[in-house]
Amino acid sequence: TDGMNIQEVAKKLHREPAEIIKKLFMMGVVATQNQPLDSETLELIAADYGIKAEEKVQVDISDLSVYFEEEDNEEAMVTRPPVVTIMGHVDHGKTTLLDSLRNTKVSLSEAGGITQHIGAYQIKINDQPITFLDTPGHAAFTVMRARGADVTDITIIVVAADDGVMPQTIEAINHAKAADVPIIVAVNKIDKPTANPDRVMQELSEHGLISEAWGGDTIFVNISAKFGQGIDELLEMILLVSEVQELKANPDRMAIGSVIEARLDKTKGPISTILVQQGTLKIGDPIVVGSTFGRVRAMINDQGRRVKTAGPSMPVEITGLNEAPQAGDRFVVFEDEKTARSVGEERMKRAQQESRSKQNRVTIDNLFSSL
Ligand code: GTP
Ligand code: MG
Repeated sequence: TDGMNIQEVAKKLHREPAEIIKKLFMMGVVATQNQPLDSETLELIAADYGIKAEEKVQVDISDLSVYFEEEDNEEAMVTRPPVVTIMGHVDHGKTTLLDSLRNTKVSLSEAGGITQHIGAYQIKINDQPITFLDTPGHAAFTVMRARGADVTDITIIVVAADDGVMPQTIEAINHAKAADVPIIVAVNKIDKPTANPDRVMQELSEHGLISEAWGGDTIFVNISAKFGQGIDELLEMILLVSEVQELKANPDRMAIGSVIEARLDKTKGPISTILVQQGTLKIGDPIVVGSTFGRVRAMINDQGRRVKTAGPSMPVEITGLNEAPQAGDRFVVFEDEKTARSVGEERMKRAQQESRSKQNRVTIDNLFSSL
């Protein structure tokens, strides 16, 4: 954007060059039509026209959301597995439920039994894959959880029957409602002598979740995640709800999707757990993720096995990025490394600029480049 001349600026703003020259003159800057302007001057003009950084008119290839809005050919769409997020208050049994679903013991190996990050797994029920996302229960992770709701098709809200509706239960309901995602309520710990599933129903009805038993349309399933009770029924309900949704994706395109979690490994570099939403991700794909980029070097599935491709709704861990992205970041695969690099560098630049000018809303770069 630096070096844009008055004529170009005028065009972008839909004004006459003379008007801008006059304005600059009033501000004490003398400029001619073809003279390149420095960013300070451009900023003056922008501020004068009241341009906000958010205003976008043209398609911007560095804006990853554009790729998510692309419509796919109806014939290319095939059924994809549902992405199910398990939410609920701390200690209400989210991870135990996942354990029970995949018959492993993840929660026991977690530090202090508290989930520190979002895990992603795919489970097959009668040959039908379902993708599950576990989310942390701590209030500090609210942002991540909010982002998690974005990729979600179905939310399971786990409520411990001996504890009832708690602040993070309500938070989870609000996230699911905001994202317009159907809710299945799993009333957990019904094995406990103090369990009171009716109270849970009563409390949830106050938040607009009325069970079918009470004439509402919310599915409630009583379960004991610890002892495996009600799990089959819960899975049945998940498949039922996902069938109604008719979830589809096109596996034959360059992949797009979202980051579930990311970390920096001392030897392997940035490792990101990502969820493919459209297309098929392949080893060697040039990829832009959030404000970083790279080439997919290795892909590992939820069972720790190396895979060469990952289709829609498939969670995988990837290496090969320059930096660790952030949970909730989107990714887009590009045809060639050159494009990925230029988009990635542009996004990195914008991210740096954005953080630099947080207080100063109007910045010259996202201003004119997004006009
Ligand atoms: P955070 O990740 O910290 O939010 O917790 P969580 O919701 O994942 O809960 P977690 O699965 O770690 O379970 C918390 C405690 O409740 C553990 O001690 C579990 O053994 C226990 N628990 C979970 N489900 C059941 C159940 O169905 N019955 C009984 N009796 N205990 C359960
Ligand atoms: Mg947990």
